[in-house]
Amino acid sequence: MVSLFSQVRENKVEDPEDKRIAAVVLAAGKGTRMRSSLPKVLHALLGRPLVLYALEAAREASQAKPVLVLGSGAEQIQQIVGDAAEIVLQEPQLGTGHAVAQAAHTLKGRVDHVLVTPADMPLLRGETLRKVVQAHLSDNAKALSGLGGDAAAVITLLTVRSNRARGFGRIRRDQGGRIQAIVEEAEASPADLTLEELNASVYCFNAAWLWEALPRIRVSTAGEYYLTDLIELAVGDGYTVQTLQIEDESEAIGINNRIHLAEAESFLRQRINETWMLAGVTVVDPRYTTIEPGVTIGQDTVIWPNTYLRGSTTIGEACEVGPNCIITDTRIGRECRIVLSVLEKAVLEDRVHVGPFAHLRAGAHLADGVHMGNFGEIKNSHLGPGTKMGHFSYVGDATIGAGVNIGAGTITCNYDGERKHPTEIGDGAFIGSDTLLVAPVRVGEGASTGAGAVVTRNVPPNTLAVGMPARAIRKKEKRDQS
Ligand code: UD1
Ligand code: CA
Repeated sequence: MVSLFSQVRENKVEDPEDKRIAAVVLAAGKGTRMRSSLPKVLHALLGRPLVLYALEAAREASQAKPVLVLGSGAEQIQQIVGDAAEIVLQEPQLGTGHAVAQAAHTLKGRVDHVLVTPADMPLLRGETLRKVVQAHLSDNAKALSGLGGDAAAVITLLTVRSNRARGFGRIRRDQGGRIQAIVEEAEASPADLTLEELNASVYCFNAAWLWEALPRIRVSTAGEYYLTDLIELAVGDGYTVQTLQIEDESEAIGINNRIHLAEAESFLRQRINETWMLAGVTVVDPRYTTIEPGVTIGQDTVIWPNTYLRGSTTIGEACEVGPNCIITDTRIGRECRIVLSVLEKAVLEDRVHVGPFAHLRAGAHLADGVHMGNFGEIKNSHLGPGTKMGHFSYVGDATIGAGVNIGAGTITCNYDGERKHPTEIGDGAFIGSDTLLVAPVRVGEGASTGAGAVVTRNVPPNTLAVGMPARAIRKKEKRDQS
């Protein structure tokens, strides 16, 4: 069981040439079309901010820490990114060419090649970026060996074929098929607009040429410095521009508005679901199953529809989950069954049954074979092996032993209005229906409470306590003791 991301990481081939490359991830744009107070790249796709997908992919294509160009919302983004990137500020934001130029003082002299990738294209695979880098390096190696005779490509460019242009720059080629320029939609002629080869906005540049050429970009009619102008400049300088086409068109979905965000999410959802199905997980209806990228699932587990598996959730083998579950940051063992329930930051060992209509909150730990039925809530509590809590109960801040029976309507009164207090229940205890356990309180092992008991004082082991407040009335007969 490995998460999608760690799988990719493990497959990564260490290449000494990687050291000569750094990635620059562009994220300074305002993202106006999102109409949001949140910076565009912090919008989440399957629970993870867009910018983290871009950084993760960049990391798979180059060993050096990526350089992240930030502008609006820089502070907020920096907090999420932490030290996963070297931050460079672009102020004001004068276009993609201007954005890359901001990385010059950080990278000049440090690397031979620069990979540039946008932060708003979260479906781009690290593997695809790596192919761009490899194509770029192999072309350079060929040219340097002198065998080919050609000049090395100063740019390797990723393109995508699509009849839905989505505002992308068009790739203009000459009669001989040699790339001439990228034309931005705003400046495209009617003939350009019919072109179906588009700029995916991923480039690998020869660094020395890049730093020299960037200042030669001329300001556009829109007042921006377009990185895409470098294609024409390279051609003018007599260099080759190499292109590589994306095989999976969905990788190039750029997020400019919330329609794109939903579209990208549905592709990513499908991609992840298919990966798990191929790994031996039954996803009954993939259209209505959402599995976030950090989740892992064991073989022969069945996921029923309307289920959201989120965060760092791990699920063991041969479980049945759903329909209608939301499970976040939870660890689940094997052969568990969870239906119509909400679980967050909980731990379930093996063969645990939960639901319908259960709520497990942070710190709930259910040992082997625990059964938790309808309308229960458990928070920050340990339930020992085989313990049963069938109906309508709240258990908070409690340590409950093995083989305990928690009757319908049992409540731990753990909060006195100021502080939280613990409840302890020993192995084999029997808590009668509608018992209120006023914490701090301890019910000894093998003890029982009567229906409706309000337990305000400790109940000794193997003792029956009843009433309100509950009084110990007698030592239990041998045959009542389990
Ligand atoms: C850009 C390309 C276009 C390509 C498309 C693919 C240019 C001029 N155009 O257009 O050819 O088909 O991507 O999605 O490059 N950014 C900055 N600083 C800026 C402006 C933008 O960092 O001053 C960042 C943005 O945050 C974004 C990326 O660069 O991550 C692309 O910018 P965006 O404005 O979305 O460009 P597009 O219009 O998509
Ligand atoms: Ca874009």
